[in-house]
Amino acid sequence: MRAMSKTALMTHILHRQTGHAYPTAASGRGVTLRDADGKEYIDASGGAAVSCLGHGHPDVLAAMHAQIDRLAYAHTSFFTTQVAEELADDLVAHAPNGIGHVFYVSGGSEAIEAALKLARQYFVERGEPQRRYLIARRQSYHGITLGALAIGGREWQRAPFAPLLIETHHVSPAYEYRGRRADETPEAYGERLADELEAKIAELGGSNVIAFVAEPIVGATLGAVPAVPGYFKRVREICDRHGILLILDEVMCGMGRTGTLHACEQEGISPDLMAIAKGLGGGYAPIGALLMRDKIFDAVAGGSGAFQHSHTYMGHPLACSAALAVQRVIRRDDLLANVRQQGAYLSRRLKERFGNHPFVGDVRGRGLFQGLELVADRDSKQPFDPSLKLHAHVKHEAMARGLMVYPTGGSLDGASGDNVLLAPPFIIDAAVVDTIVERLGEAVDAATAQAS
Ligand SMILES: Cc1ncc(COP(=O)(O)O)c(C=O)c1O
Repeated sequence: MRAMSKTALMTHILHRQTGHAYPTAASGRGVTLRDADGKEYIDASGGAAVSCLGHGHPDVLAAMHAQIDRLAYAHTSFFTTQVAEELADDLVAHAPNGIGHVFYVSGGSEAIEAALKLARQYFVERGEPQRRYLIARRQSYHGITLGALAIGGREWQRAPFAPLLIETHHVSPAYEYRGRRADETPEAYGERLADELEAKIAELGGSNVIAFVAEPIVGATLGAVPAVPGYFKRVREICDRHGILLILDEVMCGMGRTGTLHACEQEGISPDLMAIAKGLGGGYAPIGALLMRDKIFDAVAGGSGAFQHSHTYMGHPLACSAALAVQRVIRRDDLLANVRQQGAYLSRRLKERFGNHPFVGDVRGRGLFQGLELVADRDSKQPFDPSLKLHAHVKHEAMARGLMVYPTGGSLDGASGDNVLLAPPFIIDAAVVDTIVERLGEAVDAATAQAS
């Protein structure tokens, strides 16, 4: 870690970590961020899977300039705006089957909070107020506000706030690298997990459960872990059988990151509610959205007529203009084709570089959403001692080499387990992929050499 500097001590911001001297980001262009000292960093993580178009995209900036000159803000209890309507039309036109409306928010946690409350209100409107349980998965991340934290499965973040969290129930994630038994096919493993969900529902009583919540590809907590084949189809079928809503959290893995606009397209299913954020606005403005099936909108519209939930900045015109421009550029420039092409190349290069690395147990992911799992021993899959904070060292070594990646720790039990997540902008080319892999290789070598 960088030594604590005078500037760090003098800041009036409660930064993510006190005592850590963050470089000052001064400008950004394309895949590169530059700090105030002129040092450049390739943004191979898009921040946290946010900057899907990279930095300073001229079309997005032009759309935002035009919007702010016209109208910066109008409160949604008084007005709708053309740009918010156009974005909703756009999102619905490209949404999974059955999705007809959107609810705007300003980020991922807000989208999840809205999902939990709308799911509950749906059943209240329908005369099923006994439905009160939420089921989610261990080793997941759904956001940091109290409801999102409650359903999430990051123990180290939940523990200090446990007395404040609503009751939630957790089942196993689809985590093939550690969860599948040697005598199981991936499909049989998926069946076993679906059976576990079914057993949890039976324990709680099917007519008492509101929703099952899952990330189609587990992002920050596990490092880009896709489900095994067939798992989500079984989950969808189980939810339908019990009248339980399926809430998909595509805050990180959605909006093109895995090569299709929505990650669930590759699972062949459609959710009842879906949270999107990050890549929606690409970092140009804070925006998230909750996409909902018609039956949910209809229950509210035909019932009380109002979702009991709102925020001051929902549907902010500037944020909507940014998101609309981001989505139009992705389509105009056929960037999802580039996500698939460069994603395949990145995956191949990572496997070449780390496939036999003594301290990399697994390389996985989809599209431009790839992860490495770091282990002290490949055969036993033994994680590194958490006190080494290997993930933090990888980040530091990468930053020193002009590379931004997104490592996390504590993925196994809240303490041990180190991953590195990559989520570069969709505008990336093969030469940049090569540089990312080269710098990441050096960073992982340097960090693991210190730790082993
Ligand atoms: C899957 C997922 N859900 C929700 C969130 C929370 O989003 P935000 O940080 O915008 O509140 C995140 C953030 O990383 C996420 O990865």
